[in-house]
Amino acid sequence: MCGIVGYVGNKEALPILIKGLKRLEYRGYDSAGIALINGGLNVYKNKGKVADLEAILSEKDTSGDVGIAHTRWATHGEPTAINAHPHYSESKDIAIIHNGIIENYSSLKEELINRGYKFNSDTDTEVLVYLIEDIQKNEGVKLFEATRIALNQVIGAYAIVLISSKEPDLLVAARKGSPLVIGIGNNDYYIASDASPIIDYTRNVVYLKEEEVALVRRNRELQIKTIKNKVKTPYIQKLEISLSTIEKGGFEHFMLKEIYEQPRSIRDSFRGRLNLEKGIVSLGGIIDYEQKLINAKRILIVACGTSWHAGLVGEYLFEDLARIPVEVEYASEFRYRNPVITEDDIVIAISQSGETADTLAAINLAKSKGATILGICNVVGSSIARATHAGVYTHAGPEIGVASTKAFTAQVTVLTLMALAIAQKKGSISQSRFQNLIYELDAVPEKVEQTLQESQQIVEIAEKLKDVRNFLYLGRGYNFPIALEGALKLKEISYIHAEGYPAAEMKHGPIALIDELMPVVFIATNKGTYEKVISNIMEVKARKGQIIAIVTEGDVAVKKLAKYIIEIPECDELLVPLLAIIPLQKLSYHIAAMRGCNVDQPRNLAKSVTVE
Ligand code: G6P
Repeated sequence: MCGIVGYVGNKEALPILIKGLKRLEYRGYDSAGIALINGGLNVYKNKGKVADLEAILSEKDTSGDVGIAHTRWATHGEPTAINAHPHYSESKDIAIIHNGIIENYSSLKEELINRGYKFNSDTDTEVLVYLIEDIQKNEGVKLFEATRIALNQVIGAYAIVLISSKEPDLLVAARKGSPLVIGIGNNDYYIASDASPIIDYTRNVVYLKEEEVALVRRNRELQIKTIKNKVKTPYIQKLEISLSTIEKGGFEHFMLKEIYEQPRSIRDSFRGRLNLEKGIVSLGGIIDYEQKLINAKRILIVACGTSWHAGLVGEYLFEDLARIPVEVEYASEFRYRNPVITEDDIVIAISQSGETADTLAAINLAKSKGATILGICNVVGSSIARATHAGVYTHAGPEIGVASTKAFTAQVTVLTLMALAIAQKKGSISQSRFQNLIYELDAVPEKVEQTLQESQQIVEIAEKLKDVRNFLYLGRGYNFPIALEGALKLKEISYIHAEGYPAAEMKHGPIALIDELMPVVFIATNKGTYEKVISNIMEVKARKGQIIAIVTEGDVAVKKLAKYIIEIPECDELLVPLLAIIPLQKLSYHIAAMRGCNVDQPRNLAKSVTVE
């Protein structure tokens, strides 16, 4: 989720690159860098925003008509100048910018280290540019060909652009699983990770397809090949959308874009960590604390808001799989109630932003009592990531909508990975159950994709219910935290009062609220407590409540009782939260949008709450 810009032509490259980076800052903003050919190949990069980079550049000679630039959202390594892009090759003749994750970077790196290479950064990207240069040297080929050959060895996702002082009239670009657009100007070319940096200069663009490599030369025609060496004819499209639509990926709001990004963000969260072939889950970030987790007598999870709901799912997962007792605490309560914490405790702090003041204070309190603190954060190098002893990043990419969506599913994915890794090492689940679950987890992004396709039904429900004043959300087991999160999403963005409750607990109070005006959302997937939930549905139906049910595909029993049905694909009970939350996010979104609410920036809320 970083931003890429490239230019080759007859104009000054720097202003085009800087303007492009500013347009892309919404995709990532922890460091930025630029590479230009003037005399030699010069790389300038810095931690912080594009404006900070600009300040450094004002003192340098930055003339030149070919260059690449990058704004980074860190996934590997801290957001430092060293880890910022572009990265030089070993000889410093080539530089690369990269979006995505090279999954097999550590094995490639090891091979290169064995051949005598020394690396400067922690990034997967540097490994790729070293590999490309190594191929160039050994096979005597040019940059385009060396890149094509190298990409055959790469597992993972990439959008890359390369520049070389040896071939100063061109850029080489390639993509797989991460978008890249080439704008065709007058004898010049603009490259970017989305069309927003290009739109001011040309409306003629080529979207690179999966595993395509492009040779982009000044005053020459664009050439494209697949990494398997098949020549492709560039397909030129006319851009007909506005700048803000491009930034939102064609969606009306960032929140909707982020909801639809979830197949990718969930996959990115387990990419390189879930190895189906070897049958293992490896979490490099907490490797030194694995034994401690295996022996843990208790885990405390501290978080706020949506992250707290992810923590609740984590509680079920750790108890179910790893047989470790878990307590999930609101960080704000935890810190003020003199909690019992010992040196044997493991505290897991969950935070999208990594800046939430209450969560940070809870960490510091637990730390002062000698507990081991692990973090699950989305923002690399954030205060919480730094305050913890170790952690696992979620890799969801920047989340801009204030109501959290893709960060939640990424947090649940990471918690699933952690619980699985510990359960396997501890032997608390059978190998066949473990094997089955890792395959099921690998299939989740596809099932989320399928779930996202169900739209018309949700829009119709939203249309019917957008003016009600209250909603009740009910679920049991793994679906209880989803009921809470579904209700939170609705109140955050539509300002309709909504409550989440354990389905069976309804009869101890909320049942008094039910009449024909009350919509009740049941998450009634067909596992574990299915029969019990059906009884709860009947209790609501008997009181004329309007039932909206999230069910497993092919459900028969609940369908007969509910007024509105939303189906999700069949999957293991443990993983249902990752699917069941999707229609609830969409329902809240559509209701809020129909009510004319400011979906991305709801009143009174902030994305990052850095005060108590
Ligand atoms: C704010 C946001 C919520 C978020 C919560 C915790 O209230 O509006 O969406 O869940 O903070 O934030 P964190 O960054 O720690 O996950």
